[in-house]
Amino acid sequence: MIRQAIIPLAGLGTRLLPLTSVFPKELLPINGKPGIEYILDECLDSGIKEIIFIISKKKEMIRKYFYNDKLFKDVIKKKNDKRIIHEYKKILRYRKFVKFVYQNEPKGTGDAVLKTKNYIKDKYFLMLLPDDLITNINCSKEMIKISKNKNSSVIASMKVKKKDVTRWGILSKKKKINKNNFFINNIIEKPSVNEAPSNYAVIGRYILSKDIFKILKYQKKGKGGEIHITDAIKNLINKDKKFIAHVFKGKYLDCGSMSGFIKSGIEIFKS
Ligand code: UTP
Repeated sequence: MIRQAIIPLAGLGTRLLPLTSVFPKELLPINGKPGIEYILDECLDSGIKEIIFIISKKKEMIRKYFYNDKLFKDVIKKKNDKRIIHEYKKILRYRKFVKFVYQNEPKGTGDAVLKTKNYIKDKYFLMLLPDDLITNINCSKEMIKISKNKNSSVIASMKVKKKDVTRWGILSKKKKINKNNFFINNIIEKPSVNEAPSNYAVIGRYILSKDIFKILKYQKKGKGGEIHITDAIKNLINKDKKFIAHVFKGKYLDCGSMSGFIKSGIEIFKS
């Protein structure tokens, strides 16, 4: 059973400046709904019972978003507006599942994951990066099924154009399982076109085993001086741990860059 999900939210969001200079990007609306709510809906729809947000003091606004009862109660008392009542109930529901841990210095995604070490109960847990939205399918749900079936860690993947591999973490195929799933034996962060072992890119959905914490404890800084989760995954694979890449069928939307963020809203509006 995979019952817990973690969501790293402690990054600076520099690619979305100036929108993120005072406001967390995860609360920015994508077609009228805060980005983080799409991620929460994906988790809840895939049967997740506890969601751990990794935030920082600077992103305290995310916690407040779920605890602004007085405002809602006062407005509902005055207006009795159905839409606002519905929105408030939705927030109250989310709140039952969400827990917060802190990473006050953004030392990288690997360091963010390490902050959840004492909270993870089962062998496997789900991690979602909120910049990556996947629509038309519940990618997490599919990955949970695969993990259960194969007793393995799973990483989401998407085929990209050969010339674009330099922007992504690229997977190296070890053995095909079926049309949409294969075992991997390496991940190379932003390789050159010649270095890239495939054109399958890593997308922000992961089912990780608790073993990752043992690696993260000693994981050294990588590119850009940050501790990357992909480097820790690479080390786990080197220790002969199984990792499956799942090529999802849904549509990928990149909400972390300015052009991607703008396009995501339009895509969701059209769908
Ligand atoms: P990114 O590095 O892609 O995003 O992290 P960022 O740092 O928020 O934004 P840019 O690159 O400056 O524009 C991927 C995810 O990991 C989280 C981020 O919040 C984001 O959701 N993260 C990143 C952490 O929680 N802690 C970190 O130290 C770094």
